[in-house]
Amino acid sequence: MNLVIKSDYESLSLAAAQAIIELSKQKKEVNICLPTGTTPKGMYKALVDLHQAGQADFSFINWFTLDEYLGIPLSSPFSCYQQITELFYEPTGINKDRIFTFNSEAKDLDAEAARYNAIIEHMGGLDLAIVGIGMNGHVGFNEPGSSANAPTRVIDLHERTLVQSKKYFTDDHPIPTKGITLGMKTLLQSKEVFVVANGEEKADIVKFAIHGPVSDDVPVSHFQTHAGATFLLDTLAASKLK
Ligand code: PGA
Repeated sequence: MNLVIKSDYESLSLAAAQAIIELSKQKKEVNICLPTGTTPKGMYKALVDLHQAGQADFSFINWFTLDEYLGIPLSSPFSCYQQITELFYEPTGINKDRIFTFNSEAKDLDAEAARYNAIIEHMGGLDLAIVGIGMNGHVGFNEPGSSANAPTRVIDLHERTLVQSKKYFTDDHPIPTKGITLGMKTLLQSKEVFVVANGEEKADIVKFAIHGPVSDDVPVSHFQTHAGATFLLDTLAASKLK
């Protein structure tokens, strides 16, 4: 596990974007998993800016959504897929053939989880997973209790996630109680992982993630054991580290 601390949110976002740009320079097919939430918004803005400046060629990259809400249509502006589309795929004109996402409207969602994971395996696994940290230490929707072997699956959202999710939905929109997520197993098999966190509110969970025991109670702590994992933090999120 590696640790990179940046002075502010802007430089943190640029560093996350640069990890993607570096992979794109290889000019060979790579598979990257993308998160949603508040944390990656600056990264998407940096990617769009670099693309508009002609400094990014995404044509060899296959993109995979990290997780998705269940019970809302994929076309909803609240779906993870639509958020990434709006912030990144659309402004950069990413080829639809390169975009992979959960069909969260599938009748058999267990089969859908297996199908989506099998695509990643068939394509050679993830080269880079960019993930955030939930206030409860979740990764994607690998909620507390998720082992390092947790498969890609349907999951009940944790109480703390439901509270955290309020900021993503309008007051009149019910907060989904279930999600579908890439499993810890697939994420831990990614060659590289960037675990990104910013702001003071993440300082405690970041401390547990890095200095605490590796534990299913704090799923993000499993990345301590991954040589290719980098915790990418701003000084506020890193403020409680030793
Ligand atoms: P946030 O969510 O970026 O909105 O803080 C992170 C997460 O839950 O993974």
